[in-house]
Amino acid sequence: MCGIVGYVGGRPCRDLLVAGLEKLEYRGYDSAGISLLTDGHVETVRAVGNLSNLRAAIGLDADTPVSAEGGVAVATPPATIGLGHTRWATHGRVTEENAHPHGDCTGHIHIVLNGIVENHTELRRELSESGHAFSSETDAEIVAHMIEKHYDGDLTEAVRNAFAELRGHYAFVAMHADHPDVLVAARQECPLIVGVGEGETFVASAIPAFLAETRDVLGLKNGEIVTVTPEGARIVEVDGTPVEREIEEVTWDEEAAEKGGYSTFMLKEIHEQPDAVAETITDRIPDADSVDLSELEISQEFLNDLRRIVIVACGTSYHAGLVGRYAIEQWARVPVEMDIASEYRYRDPVVGTNDLVVGITQSGETADTLAAMRLARERGAKVMALTNVMGSQATRDADTVLYTRAGLEMGVAATKTFTAQTAAMYLLGIWLAQSRDAWPPEKIAEVIAELKGIPSKIGTTLASVEERVRAIARSHAEARFFLYLGRNIGLPVCLEGALKMKEISYIPTDAYAAGEMKHGPIALLDESTPVVCVATDSPILEKVLSNIAEVRARGADVIAIATEGNTQVAEVADQTLYVPKTDWVLQPILAVLPLQLLAYHVARLNNLNVDQPRNLAKTVTVE
Ligand code: AGP
Repeated sequence: MCGIVGYVGGRPCRDLLVAGLEKLEYRGYDSAGISLLTDGHVETVRAVGNLSNLRAAIGLDADTPVSAEGGVAVATPPATIGLGHTRWATHGRVTEENAHPHGDCTGHIHIVLNGIVENHTELRRELSESGHAFSSETDAEIVAHMIEKHYDGDLTEAVRNAFAELRGHYAFVAMHADHPDVLVAARQECPLIVGVGEGETFVASAIPAFLAETRDVLGLKNGEIVTVTPEGARIVEVDGTPVEREIEEVTWDEEAAEKGGYSTFMLKEIHEQPDAVAETITDRIPDADSVDLSELEISQEFLNDLRRIVIVACGTSYHAGLVGRYAIEQWARVPVEMDIASEYRYRDPVVGTNDLVVGITQSGETADTLAAMRLARERGAKVMALTNVMGSQATRDADTVLYTRAGLEMGVAATKTFTAQTAAMYLLGIWLAQSRDAWPPEKIAEVIAELKGIPSKIGTTLASVEERVRAIARSHAEARFFLYLGRNIGLPVCLEGALKMKEISYIPTDAYAAGEMKHGPIALLDESTPVVCVATDSPILEKVLSNIAEVRARGADVIAIATEGNTQVAEVADQTLYVPKTDWVLQPILAVLPLQLLAYHVARLNNLNVDQPRNLAKTVTVE
């Protein structure tokens, strides 16, 4: 989730753009850049690393206060139109060439983009065949060349025509050297907002970028293109139809703005899950019946000789791995061994060639997981890292890397990285199944269609259950213990729900395979025990229903997660929360959402700091 900002107006804007980028730092980044247009000439400065490197590159050292005077270095007259960008790399390594802004062949058109252009490979091929030369590995640069392809003197028209050919999940802003008072921007899924000032206009991926300058905003919807000038903004649909929209005033303070109007980063990140999953899967599903993980560069020969998969991870990442195990064994029929990394590294594991070891770590810096990956690699296994951070240690300790694209996660309690990891494990399961002909192509096409529908079903679930979860949280905020029960692919969801409740509400919890209840844990139950049961549709739902009946018989209060349209569960549970129907193997990515919200609201009702729980760090780099 990159940060983008554009300015056109009467004031010198170099420092306004840098200030805007500083307000977008919370979105996370690995490089940054700005482009400024002066006297028909665009000057671009980019730098890898944090903003102080960019400040140094443009002659603004760390403690030089942001001033209204200077241009890039000492451009005269100072630029009053420009673009800025903080990059969270998804396509192309963390290098200066891959940092934004990107230009076209003429150097006249510059763009900054947040998101992913899904059909970038085919467009790059077409553009190269018609003579375009590219200077980066990114999908984003395509947009500058697409605008160049359509440009005939009218920047809005060129952007509109280019936009019509793009597919994906993105928002971008474009500038042209011949138009010193116009920026044109477009939105497809990723956030984009216009800040309307006196004789000046901003466009950015989030309000904090310009909140210090104006509180008057104009929201953009999917498929809309906006032309901004110092006088204001004009919105059209992709077919050119004009759109009228009211300017609204933002009342948030800066801190709330960083949280996108949510009261905490954790709640903001819970609601970012549709985007996190969409960005993780979009361009890896090039068509309706196949998954493309060629980025892994794993040979067909290795896949044919693959003996087994070993997944090592810690905490929430371990739970995503557990979901992945069920999916891979179900679809690809490859045996999957799971282990907690801090155990795996010390148990002298039997591992070697023809084994694929997957280290799952969102931060890419968790010491135990890194050590487990290194051990496996030393013993001849092929090691894959599944991580959210480009350039992290895990990417160096692995033979190949699969990236989730959830963007920076500020909340210590992982939420969007869990669903993004789970989505990535589904991609891996489907890809292995198709690569080894382990599953009928029509079945693969069916589950791919379901997976593509998950981002919007996450949005629907969050919207439909939050109020009910808040009420359930109120009735159990003082509980002294929560028990989570599930079976088969529902069990990892229980483990994750129990971990969330522990780490942010400090209430003891246990998660158990429901079939194990009668072998001891059932003794824990009484009327005061809330029992959360994951009872989404699956081949063993009947078993789960009878376990719920066992628990109810001891007077416990059962909160069940069920699949929409299945009324059986509500007959045996006290409260039932419904998630949309999808393939039963994909249900966990939806069933976890009410559990994230339950832990969140119980913690909030106990006035706890959910973003920074006690005793916990976001990244555990200690042994
Ligand atoms: C989850 O909410 C916790 N923050 C923690 O369990 C975390 O999942 C674990 O430390 C693993 O982190 P990683 O994914 O960065 O390796």
